[in-house]
Amino acid sequence: MGATEAVHFARFGYGIHRKTAGYENPSRTCSICALMRDRRIKDWYPTSWQGRTAGQQPLYDDPAEVERVVAALNRMPPLVTWGEIETLKAELAAAARGERFLLQGGDCAESFDECSADFIAGKLKILLQMSLVITWGRRQKVIRVGRLAGQFAKPRSADTETRDGVTLPSYRGDLINRAEFTAEARRADPALMLRGYERAALTLNYVRALIEGGFADLRHPEHWELDFVQDAALAAEYRRILDAVRDSMSFVETVSARGPDLARADFFTSHEGLHLLYEQAQTHLVPEAGRWYNLSTHFPWIGMRTADPDGAHVEYFRGIANPIAVKIGPEMRADDVSRLVEILDPAGEPGRLTLIHRFGADHIERCLPRLIDAVRATGRTVLFACDPMHGNTETTRDGFKTRRLERILFELEAAFRLHAEHDSRLGGVHVEVTGENVTECMGGARGLDERDLHRAYRSSVDPRLNGEQALELAMRLVRFN
Ligand code: PEP
Ligand code: CO
Repeated sequence: MGATEAVHFARFGYGIHRKTAGYENPSRTCSICALMRDRRIKDWYPTSWQGRTAGQQPLYDDPAEVERVVAALNRMPPLVTWGEIETLKAELAAAARGERFLLQGGDCAESFDECSADFIAGKLKILLQMSLVITWGRRQKVIRVGRLAGQFAKPRSADTETRDGVTLPSYRGDLINRAEFTAEARRADPALMLRGYERAALTLNYVRALIEGGFADLRHPEHWELDFVQDAALAAEYRRILDAVRDSMSFVETVSARGPDLARADFFTSHEGLHLLYEQAQTHLVPEAGRWYNLSTHFPWIGMRTADPDGAHVEYFRGIANPIAVKIGPEMRADDVSRLVEILDPAGEPGRLTLIHRFGADHIERCLPRLIDAVRATGRTVLFACDPMHGNTETTRDGFKTRRLERILFELEAAFRLHAEHDSRLGGVHVEVTGENVTECMGGARGLDERDLHRAYRSSVDPRLNGEQALELAMRLVRFN
């Protein structure tokens, strides 16, 4: 490392510049910093978050190794392009105008072990099925966004975990350490950032191949087999919708020369932008746009626990041009909401900001009107989405973290109703779902209860809806407004 480069690292921490000179005064001598400085965003740099307090970050014991990994990650090809990102932003702007509905879903956390064809296809399938039901029911185009290809880092309520008198660091997701309860597994390993990038690339590659290959094509119902749906009424209702959609499609194909493009389906990726070194390393200046983008995903979000307007996550997110979301919980104060909107969307850019509220069935009535008012006072348009999962988590007597579908649906119904009552609009839903036949959430057509949780509980973090429960949620959702 040359002398000037060393100065740069000292000043900015883990830098990403590939230039070798002139970092002493970035505002004058570095063309990239100058571009960043005098355009839209003041005093921002991909590493500027390092001057703020960053919650939920791993503690690594080898800074030199971290630096090597961040530099290596920064040299890797981007996972998504800025053109795709801008397409999604335009779609989200349409959703904020009431012309689209956002469906965002996937695992609470992806795991490296489940980076396999079946798991990926299963996730895609349930999201496509839900989107079909919602499109048909609401007569509205659905924007499909997976929580995948990077959903590897988790916020934890405690830094450590104690079992039988032994205390170790908490498991923070496969991007950081491993779930197994041993000192070695729980050590934060920087190389896992590279393994995460690779899993994300493999996942995205397969998703793109499936979609390009016609997996989402409505004329091929064999891709849409409902092997996980055991409830006859639910399966019959789904088949009825599928048949009706196919009939309509074939009618349009018959009367128009070309017919609709049935084979293609847009699909976007998202993850919580929690691990800031991982995000920073994949942040690139796109010269054509004159803006910085996080090219690891289309649509990163800030989690509830890291949404402090003065914190490092908000600092990082304000400088990237991606559409971004923030999770809003019951503790969020009205003046922090307005500060977040001002900081994250200073220009009032259409599609830029989505607020995902996750209040819980017990709090939504009290909290949502306040949130709507606080946003309205800023004079800005945001897209509102409801995450009816994270405010409705409970622990059973046997220690299972679970959620009841009835409570989830209750919050979702209240969200639609309260937005309408306050002259606002719910434009999307954010859910934790899996294509697997798990028993993690209770309720639904098959009436899963506490005894079923023992059977197929596979999540190492939050409980997900199984395919059947997810389909039921989509069918109920379309009746909610
Ligand atoms: C999550 O989406 O998995 C999550 C941790 O959510 P929240 O930040 O809303 O608690
Ligand atoms: Co979760």
